[in-house]
Amino acid sequence: MTSATTEATTEATTEKIASSTSPKTVTSDKRFKVLNATMKRHHYQQDALIEVLHQAQESFGFLELEVLEFVARGLKLPLSRVYGVATFYHLFSLKPNGKHTCVICMGTACYVKGSDKILTELEQKLGIKVGQTTADGEVSLMSARCLGACGIAPAVVFDGEVAGKQDENDVLATVKTWQSLT
Ligand code: FES
Repeated sequence: MTSATTEATTEATTEKIASSTSPKTVTSDKRFKVLNATMKRHHYQQDALIEVLHQAQESFGFLELEVLEFVARGLKLPLSRVYGVATFYHLFSLKPNGKHTCVICMGTACYVKGSDKILTELEQKLGIKVGQTTADGEVSLMSARCLGACGIAPAVVFDGEVAGKQDENDVLATVKTWQSLT
């Protein structure tokens, strides 16, 4: 199978899995393709659930409902089972506490283009560490490992929207708009 054919197949499978969740977000967000590739690598076996959730958390920073639904459909498991596993293990976080979420990609492509500087700057300016939420409850700062958007590194996700070619100033400017909205 050529790489173009493989990519087309992965895309088709991602869309199929997405079909009863939220097609628009799922098919336009490359992180779901990364997640689907992980499930495919495990031959969509149900006992790969924890590893798949790991990948999901690394890609998304946390496990929102849409992601859990995508995994449930991909592995043909009841959502209740996927949700149960995700809530049982402390290493998985279902939702950041903040009103807004900023996820910095720390994958290799983004890291070499300075995502570590973005993260350090943000931690300093917000006075929190990655994984924490500001005292005013406005911003949760998370990290992920490869959002599937390496071509636009460094990539950052603001409230679910992926933004590319970011630097410290861009990210701070966006985060400040959230804080000034209070
Ligand atoms: S390493 Fe950041 S998007 Fe791939």
